[in-house]
Amino acid sequence: MFSKILALLFVATGATQVQASPIQSQVDVVLPRTDAPPPFNPSLFKDINVSRGLEYHYYAAPADSGKPTLLFLHGFPSSFYDWRHQVSFFQDKGYGLIVPDMLGYGGTAKPLDLEAYASSLISKDIVDILDAEKIDQAIVVGHDWGSKIAARLANYFPERFHAFGFLDVGYVAPIIFAAPFNDTMAVSKAFLGYENFGFFDYLARDGTDQDIVDHTESFWDIWYINDTVESITEFSPFGALEAFLKNDTRVATGDFVTPEERAFQTEFYNQNGWTAPLNWYRIITGDVDREDNKGIPQENTLLQKPVFFGSASRDYYSLSALWFEFTITSMGSNGTLTTREYNSGHWVQMQAKDEVNKDLLQWIEGL
Ligand SMILES: *[C@@H]1O[C@H](CO)[C@@H](O)[C@H](O)[C@H]1NC(C)=O
Ligand SMILES: *[C@@H]1O[C@H](CO)[C@@H](O)[C@H](O)[C@H]1NC(C)=O
Ligand SMILES: *[C@@H]1O[C@H](CO)[C@@H](O)[C@H](O)[C@H]1NC(C)=O
Ligand SMILES: *[C@@H]1O[C@H](CO)[C@@H](O)[C@H](O)[C@H]1NC(C)=O
Ligand SMILES: *[C@@H]1O[C@H](CO)[C@@H](O)[C@H](O)[C@H]1NC(C)=O
Repeated sequence: MFSKILALLFVATGATQVQASPIQSQVDVVLPRTDAPPPFNPSLFKDINVSRGLEYHYYAAPADSGKPTLLFLHGFPSSFYDWRHQVSFFQDKGYGLIVPDMLGYGGTAKPLDLEAYASSLISKDIVDILDAEKIDQAIVVGHDWGSKIAARLANYFPERFHAFGFLDVGYVAPIIFAAPFNDTMAVSKAFLGYENFGFFDYLARDGTDQDIVDHTESFWDIWYINDTVESITEFSPFGALEAFLKNDTRVATGDFVTPEERAFQTEFYNQNGWTAPLNWYRIITGDVDREDNKGIPQENTLLQKPVFFGSASRDYYSLSALWFEFTITSMGSNGTLTTREYNSGHWVQMQAKDEVNKDLLQWIEGL
């Protein structure tokens, strides 16, 4: 009942029109292209220019005959590397894999224009990658903002996918974030007692990219916090993340990211900068995402394919109850929904890696 109210109130009204503008400037890509540690095979990384001229960097392992290709889409603050445990598991079983650095990250283009991050455009980029790899239909699995793109792929290109998997963040129905962001947060504050996505406001602000570099250890601590209940006060509400970073606060992190993995990530991300990745938040606190979603064909807003949703019961910002509500109520008459709930924080693909891999495999084998 509570989740239903919360979900309903996340949804609402219209907004002003944004002007599309051409892509003018980009951050230079400085990433060395072949330093990915195992299980990634450095020779399997590729680069292509998608149809709108942006370069994408992605991992592409060919499928054994008869095996489908799995497309893994990461969120924030992330890269292809988030999927190391799934790559290791499914690569050994002969599944095809496509694991891109999403727009703004790693070896992929980093446009500074907000409009470039519209989900409709990023969805087309991903389909361009499938075309380049000659894959008619894939199984997509998203996490965090990657789930938003998996959702938009279902909205714009349902015929290109056998099935849709969502981890932590469920189906991001086009109506979510349809209201002005601060109105949504006022509702969250009223019902939960805190703004669950209040940190978006800070991440979307100018200057936060430099704060992240200047307070890197605090930044990674809070994302990988072990006691996720603390994120309710230290991370989610308006102002909390900024104070946490600027005080160089440290907290215990979970053991699902080893010191070596964290070192790889810290270097990788700081090298590539934070300006571009933060655009994923700016389009939500501003109007770009809301306006873009008005182009979704109404008949494609319900999911008509097999869907997997693996939720995280201990994620207190991206709330399991909210995503269950949106995902369940978005199933069309031809869709089938498989759900699992993990005793995990936000990073289910790392924190509950063995269960997630086993459950995804079982779901995929049953398709
Ligand atoms: C993408 O296009 C740019 C500009 O034309 C070019 O410099 C670059 O080499 C291209 N990349 C690939 C992978 O073809
Ligand atoms: C939304 O609220 C936050 C926190 O009070 C504030 O920093 C921000 O300027 C507000 N945004 C808008 C568009 O009003
Ligand atoms: C993480 O939290 C669990 C309890 O939720 C505790 O058992 C474990 O020791 C903690 N680990 C760290 C590294 O603090
Ligand atoms: C440090 O934290 C305190 C309380 O948590 C907060 O009031 C203060 O603004 C923070 N410092 C900075 C520089 O944000
Ligand atoms: C459901 O599947 C049937 C049989 O394949 C098909 O004819 C129908 O168009 C589908 N409906 C939707 C809404 O996708």
